[in-house]
Amino acid sequence: MCGIVGYIGTKEPQDIIINGLKKLEYRGYDSAGIAVVNHGKIELRKHVGAISNLEKLIGEERLGGHVGIGHTRWATHGAPSDLNSHPHMDMDGTIAVVHNGTVENYVELKAELEKEGVVFRTETDTEVATMLISKYYHRNHDLKKALDQAISEMRGTYAIAVVAKDQPDQFVAYRKNAPLIVGLGNNCNFVASDFSALLAYTKDVYLLENGDTVVLTKDAVNIYDEEDRLIERPMMHVDWDVSAAEKGGYDHFMLKEIYEQPTAIRETLSRNLDDNGRVHLQETVQLTKEDFEKINKIVIVACGTAYHAGLVGRYVIEKLARIPVEVDIASEFRYRDPFVDEHTLFIAISQSGETADTLEAMREAKRKGARVLSVVNVVGSTVARESDDVFYTQAGPEIAVASTKAYTTQLVCMYLLALFFADLNVAISAEEYDNFVQDLEAISGKLEDVLKMAPEIEALANRLYDRDQVFYIGRGVDSSVAYEGSLKLKEISYINSFAIAAGELKHGTIALMEPRTIVWALATQERLFDKMVSNIQEVKARNAHIISLAQEGNSEIEAHSDEVFYIPRTKDELTPLLSVVPLQLYAYYVAKAKGCEIDKPRNLAKSVTVE
Ligand code: F6R
Repeated sequence: MCGIVGYIGTKEPQDIIINGLKKLEYRGYDSAGIAVVNHGKIELRKHVGAISNLEKLIGEERLGGHVGIGHTRWATHGAPSDLNSHPHMDMDGTIAVVHNGTVENYVELKAELEKEGVVFRTETDTEVATMLISKYYHRNHDLKKALDQAISEMRGTYAIAVVAKDQPDQFVAYRKNAPLIVGLGNNCNFVASDFSALLAYTKDVYLLENGDTVVLTKDAVNIYDEEDRLIERPMMHVDWDVSAAEKGGYDHFMLKEIYEQPTAIRETLSRNLDDNGRVHLQETVQLTKEDFEKINKIVIVACGTAYHAGLVGRYVIEKLARIPVEVDIASEFRYRDPFVDEHTLFIAISQSGETADTLEAMREAKRKGARVLSVVNVVGSTVARESDDVFYTQAGPEIAVASTKAYTTQLVCMYLLALFFADLNVAISAEEYDNFVQDLEAISGKLEDVLKMAPEIEALANRLYDRDQVFYIGRGVDSSVAYEGSLKLKEISYINSFAIAAGELKHGTIALMEPRTIVWALATQERLFDKMVSNIQEVKARNAHIISLAQEGNSEIEAHSDEVFYIPRTKDELTPLLSVVPLQLYAYYVAKAKGCEIDKPRNLAKSVTVE
């Protein structure tokens, strides 16, 4: 977690760094800070809380200079406070450091440094890194060498950037298992944790590899690999639009991203379907029929929302392609010695491509010989780079911490993979295949109709936002969507919500039903509709407030529900793409009615780079 921005050039760094940090605020918002080198001195400002607090602290002041670094924090070591905020400075104010990640051996390093007379002011591992770099910098006055020497003693995963008060013409940075990219501008250069911070200034970037140290001046970027060889990294042009990282008139990024779903789905489909309506996966997926013939099982691993997309993936891949699929939570997968070998296709799903749990699970699968295909949104992210095949979702930047459009595009990838595997496995007739593709292509238009329900859902949320217990139930793929709806509600509105397969309710959980309990009953599966109606009756009998979701035409559900929303008719397998949207909107409007910080819910960060 945490976001880093660094700038060197002909302009003052202050506005560039603060704007960049605002784009990275989704990575953590416990505190923010900036350090600028100006006339042989480091100007340091930092403040607990959102970046707006830092802006208030700085006020009209100009920090000047031409080189600076900034940071937005998600606290790991040390509580959120002004003192623990980054950048950190050494004892005599010679260097300042920003850091994303963890230094695992910081306790030992701190003890050593204390013996040498260093006095620490904070509880952070970053201050230890700062003092270590400072120790070497005071010996050799070479910023790169000092950083390299410190790094050789530091264990952990991190990205780090350093400025020195007597180095107005350069700064240095290093990447090890935490994201860091270099942006190339005109008479200026940048580092950042991801593209969104730089889109307003440049779209040309180098993706650093683990172990790379980079020395930046306004005219040059020198990258050194782990062996200290000056090397070239391939330059990438990012085609994301600047406006994609702006709110564009919406109150919140989350709402904007909910409304972007039809376009994101169309984009993901058009990149992977040819003119004849056949799945033709993007060139970063190289898996051939011969490769697939060696595969006897698929294992999908992910966290949170991406895991929920995997649950739908299992259902649809097994159904269409007739191959066994397991789904696991990444943080559990690697600790249970899973059955994975060279006949396993391992699918990692991740919006950010930086989630530590997913990455470690994927590395474990690779060690066991599996082929790794990842479904990722962020181009060039670590998951993407370490995979054999990469299937990019075309969601564009997702800024709100609560994932919406990344989820629906992940679902689209699951459907496309299911069709692709079904074809390779000769498990589907030509007619079924064409029919499925046609229905998939029609989904974004139907989703536009679902979005028109927003005013009704807002009215419902305004009536019911003060209920403190909400259940989500469903059968088949509806139960996977129930998990996602429940997660959305709890993460942004802090309401205690719970999702469960509807048939499982009577085995214990139904004991929790009370008259004020809200139950979202997902009944979109035609095949299971009658069974679902029975489950709804069971909870209705306990006086819960039932909000049902069904396909158009199934109006008999009204007799058993307090409220009903209808989605346009489609195949049972495809309903998640439509049914999740009312649930996203409900979570959004409930959180809004409660006055919650929707885009930046408490205790969370967008990319979770710690295990
Ligand atoms: C919830 C949410 C998280 C992420 C999870 C995995 O709205 O966004 O549950 O889905 O942290 O993140 P990625 O997809 O970046 O690996």
